[in-house]
Amino acid sequence: MPHSDTVIVILAAGKGTRLKSSLAKVLHRAGGLSLVEHVIRACQPLVPESLHVVMGYQAEDVRAVVVPLGAKTVLQNPQLGTGHAMQVARQSIGNRAKYAVVLPGDAPLIHTQTMEKLLRTHIAGRAAATILSAHLPNPAGYGRIVRKADGSVAAIVEDKALRADQRGLTEVNSSMYCFTLAALWPCLEKIRPENVHKELYLTDAIALLDKAGEKILAEVAPAPQEILGCNTRVELAGVDRLFRAQKRAALMDAGVTMYLPETILIDTEVEVGTDSVIEPNVQLLGNTRIGSNCAVRTGSVLTDAVLDEGVLVRQHCVISGSHLGAGAVVGPFAHIRDGADLRPGVRVGNYVEVKKSVLEEGVKAMHLTYLGDATVGRDTNVGAGTITCNYDGTKKNPTKIGARVFVGSGTELVAPVTVGDGAYIAAGSTITEDVPAEALGIARERQVTKPGWAAAKREGAAKTATRSSVDHTQIGKSQKPGAKARKKTKSLSK
Ligand code: UD1
Ligand code: MG
Repeated sequence: MPHSDTVIVILAAGKGTRLKSSLAKVLHRAGGLSLVEHVIRACQPLVPESLHVVMGYQAEDVRAVVVPLGAKTVLQNPQLGTGHAMQVARQSIGNRAKYAVVLPGDAPLIHTQTMEKLLRTHIAGRAAATILSAHLPNPAGYGRIVRKADGSVAAIVEDKALRADQRGLTEVNSSMYCFTLAALWPCLEKIRPENVHKELYLTDAIALLDKAGEKILAEVAPAPQEILGCNTRVELAGVDRLFRAQKRAALMDAGVTMYLPETILIDTEVEVGTDSVIEPNVQLLGNTRIGSNCAVRTGSVLTDAVLDEGVLVRQHCVISGSHLGAGAVVGPFAHIRDGADLRPGVRVGNYVEVKKSVLEEGVKAMHLTYLGDATVGRDTNVGAGTITCNYDGTKKNPTKIGARVFVGSGTELVAPVTVGDGAYIAAGSTITEDVPAEALGIARERQVTKPGWAAAKREGAAKTATRSSVDHTQIGKSQKPGAKARKKTKSLSK
């Protein structure tokens, strides 16, 4: 539902000191997407008046992620706390909206419906602030909601500022709020940096609103994990685990079979069709899209791969940025990458690498082959150990192989080179010139056969071996080699 009277503000300027990272916290990834991207995606269906991201640490990198998602950006430099971040956002927000939904950039599990409901509670309750809260079994690190006897909210107290009698409070502040802006702005000006970090805390606005006689509500999140933040690597791993579990559950509900699903890693954006089977220890990453009736066997890693119906990916394949047409079969141990396009029914076997190449319908390359910057026509058979020599040390060159070509095993195709339809390449050839359609290309030394050569060599080798079989352990000992040893050496030297 559109909310033309509401702005969304995502606070994303902090460094994330507790992550001990050179990367800004909101750019860390969980479930395959950056934290801030998750938050923006969850907000988009609310269709706000505008969406603002407060940036500071690594602002340019954050901007590169959020602007394509339709966000406006505000720079907070230096970063003096969450309250200061909202003060800085004010100029960008302007006067057009009545309400602001404020979210931290480091809590990516939030659902659109939860925010929608928070906003409805806020407007219906005529509150100045409505806080999304949650009951956590381990609330350490979070600000706590302090309620009055009648259940209304008096304040948020940060973890480090809790009094002994407040330590038992388990209702935490999610850092997600709805504010009525006309009530918030005057209180925001009154915030003081009176805390251990000497920062301006947005949480302090709550007590100030209460003091001003404003109404403050707190709504408990339907599922406590929705509010989890990623302040440490352990928290980040926990949130990532939840995303993965949600994704697997959604796909299984939609008709995908998974064995040992807890070992399977699937990014948020991945699609898998019905009756496809995903085996243990598979990773499906990025924008991978898998059709129905496919199978991805154990150990395979697919990144930005598109598989049409009925594709079989055997064990331990790496497929990235490539398309596999219906019924294609690849692997085990195949590497298909960088814009490779395998048309329907193509078969690629073990230890075959296909890079930026088009393999037309029915092409087979079953063993130990490299096809790079190549086009291979229909029903062509690429023999074991074929290599397109596509790189000349400076640039990449194309190889064009026609339809119904037989490429013998152990062929090297030195690009740029073209092989016409129906041609044959003799095994072991190094092809440096074009081979016309229906021709035989053969490029290798003629064989020389020397009868009896091997036996003679073996005999010679045996003699040499016996000659050198003198007992070297005796050499260097005080006594000289004995008569027996001398005699043996003599007889051998005959
Ligand atoms: C904050 C809340 C805490 C709540 C918790 C929930 C405050 C003072 N505390 O604590 O009550 O339980 O979130 O996750 O608000 N940020 C800025 N500019 C700044 C500082 C922070 O934009 O100057 C951003 C950060 O990038 C982050 C968000 O605000 O995305 C929250 O900051 P963070 O440092 O994670 O606050 P918490 O300690 O988690
Ligand atoms: Mg946080």
